[in-house]
Amino acid sequence: MAARWYQEAVFYELYVRAFRDSSGDGNGDFLGAIEKLDHIKSLGVDCIWIMPHYASPLKDDGYDIADYTAVHPNYGTLEDFKAFVDAAHERGLRVVTDLVMNHISDQHPWFQAARQNKNSPYRDYFVWSNTGTEYADTRIIFLDDETSNWTYDEVAGQYFWHRFYSSQPDLNYDNPAVIAEIFAVIRFWMDLGIDGFRADAVPYLIEREGTNCENLPETHEILKQVRRFMDENYPDAVLIAEANQWPHDLLPYFGDGDEFHVCFHFPIMPRLYQALKAGDKTPIIDILNDTPPIPPGTNWMTFLRNHDELTLEMVAPEVRQWMWEQYAPEPRMRQNLGIRRRLAALLDNDKRKWFCLNAMFLSLPGTPIIYYGDEIGMGDNIWLPDRHGCRTPMQWNDTKNAGFSTAVKTYYPVIDDELFGYQQVNVAAQENNPDSYLNLTRFLLKTRQHQSALRHGAFEFVDVGNDAKKNKAILIFTRKSEEQAILCVFNLTDQVQPLPTGVSPKAFDLLKQTIINNQLAPFAAHWFILE
Ligand code: GLC
Repeated sequence: MAARWYQEAVFYELYVRAFRDSSGDGNGDFLGAIEKLDHIKSLGVDCIWIMPHYASPLKDDGYDIADYTAVHPNYGTLEDFKAFVDAAHERGLRVVTDLVMNHISDQHPWFQAARQNKNSPYRDYFVWSNTGTEYADTRIIFLDDETSNWTYDEVAGQYFWHRFYSSQPDLNYDNPAVIAEIFAVIRFWMDLGIDGFRADAVPYLIEREGTNCENLPETHEILKQVRRFMDENYPDAVLIAEANQWPHDLLPYFGDGDEFHVCFHFPIMPRLYQALKAGDKTPIIDILNDTPPIPPGTNWMTFLRNHDELTLEMVAPEVRQWMWEQYAPEPRMRQNLGIRRRLAALLDNDKRKWFCLNAMFLSLPGTPIIYYGDEIGMGDNIWLPDRHGCRTPMQWNDTKNAGFSTAVKTYYPVIDDELFGYQQVNVAAQENNPDSYLNLTRFLLKTRQHQSALRHGAFEFVDVGNDAKKNKAILIFTRKSEEQAILCVFNLTDQVQPLPTGVSPKAFDLLKQTIINNQLAPFAAHWFILE
């Protein structure tokens, strides 16, 4: 069976607000993003996921939708959106948007109507309670801000259910009218020409007493309906699940190939950082051994960072503690059950670590996605509220506002610190330096895209062999397609390591890294072509 486009693609997560401000109001917009599509294309990615661009009070940065079929005025008009999609397509880039179906903004007319009138048909679009005591086994996700999944609404005279902020009432998926509304939303955006959706927060659609209200069979039933609707109307589109769950709970999101095409692999992500910090590959091996095979035509989505905190939900409490100590030594760096920092900052701006971790994640099975700004090693601002510390303006050059905007004040300030300030870290400064983050990103992505084994080949761990057998510091695996085999070798430590048995120092390395004295350099990464 030939690979489907999303199984072979590399994705780029775009935050339109941060990318390029064409209107001078301090917010990025679609017309600005069009100006920068050539930058995205130059990286060697295939598809853009844009974070929510809908009308919204932005209490959760657009994940609180007030109108599903309108573009947020800060970002432009529907025509601008359409122009963006067309311009992306002209460059051979696909576009997926966020489908936030679990909840809406309390400003949405459905909620306004529902709270004001018990007899409104919209009342049953939400989940109500007289006591706010139901579903007590359900965890709270935004632990830093919320103390309950129920909030009392004075106007309604009842409590409403919400898994995220109390300004984001959950929709009631026991009501078929809600599903019909979502189909209309899907149709609206698909008919504008997009290529699919990243579906937000899908484990939480249905509530049942006595459960933790996550991953319920009834939720999967609804998601399968969504897939059927997509298959019938838009068979080439992709549906990507954001479900922050363990691998065995993730498997049902693929169904029998009849639910999601792609699911984010959340648990692998923190383990890549853990392994690199501890110099021990064990957590990577354990989680991949724990990851079940998935149906044909589907794929995992792998990532190092995204627009949220680096979540540590999927690690044991003692590992979480250790990760916080290692990667978030200052209390302000921690957020909910995670870390509010960017990739380059987490890796001490050490290009060896950055290269090793990226080469590792880009050679694991899955469809990789990179987060805007990480391709130039942007830093963060941990003092900004919520998760905005890693959503600051893209740094294009060393002029005012990093070339992002001509406004006096941008939506949040540009990074301006000594190490990561836009004066040093920007696209223009990195453009002509072959060793810059930017050009290393291009090199890694282009190298990967030319190798069928890395794109879709079978994956297998390799024993390090002989004396090095117990060497936890060296991660080795093969990727094999029908045409070729590649041996991926990583040194997870800052010490030189013996070259594993069976690896010839003369083997052809796609990553063009040198081997000196038959030793792996600190944080070495190699993709050897096997004869
Ligand atoms: C997802 C998004 C996050 C958002 C939440 C609620 O986890 O990634 O940014 O806050 O859903 O919509």
